[in-house]
Amino acid sequence: NQLTHVTLTNYSKSEESRELIQKALLENDFMKHLEASQILTIMDCMYPTTLAQGCCVIQEGDDGSTVYVLEEGSVEVTKGEQKLCTIEPGKVFGELAILYNCTRTATVTALTDIKLWAIDRQGFQTIMMRTGLLKHSNY
Ligand code: CMP
Repeated sequence: NQLTHVTLTNYSKSEESRELIQKALLENDFMKHLEASQILTIMDCMYPTTLAQGCCVIQEGDDGSTVYVLEEGSVEVTKGEQKLCTIEPGKVFGELAILYNCTRTATVTALTDIKLWAIDRQGFQTIMMRTGLLKHSNY
């Protein structure tokens, strides 16, 4: 399987960022059931990115491939004309398209300049897969 040949890259982070990301992953309904080692590996592999106020982070209907944790600033979630909510730092977003292999369920727009941590589908799925393989080889 090609996922076993993917090299995972660790990105260095401050202790504050490490805690913010772990807390965000553990508070997310879909991520909190992962194993502690998977949460740590996802955190290690997240890379930093920034966007300016007004930028579209996620477009509803697109094929999505990145999961984010917001570190600084705020984003707005909208679906069609409807405003769903505002997301503040320490929250995960963009997880649904990857977990359910569907298109983006909503649009996410930067209300301020924002700082994000991101992980792409390939890294995310590799982490899921590897833990499964390791578990399997223990038997
Ligand atoms: P995804 O569908 O990948 O991309 C859009 C993201 O917006 C989605 O993942 C969720 O993280 C977020 N989102 C979608 N609907 C809601 C909602 N009702 N409340 C909060 N966040 C949402």
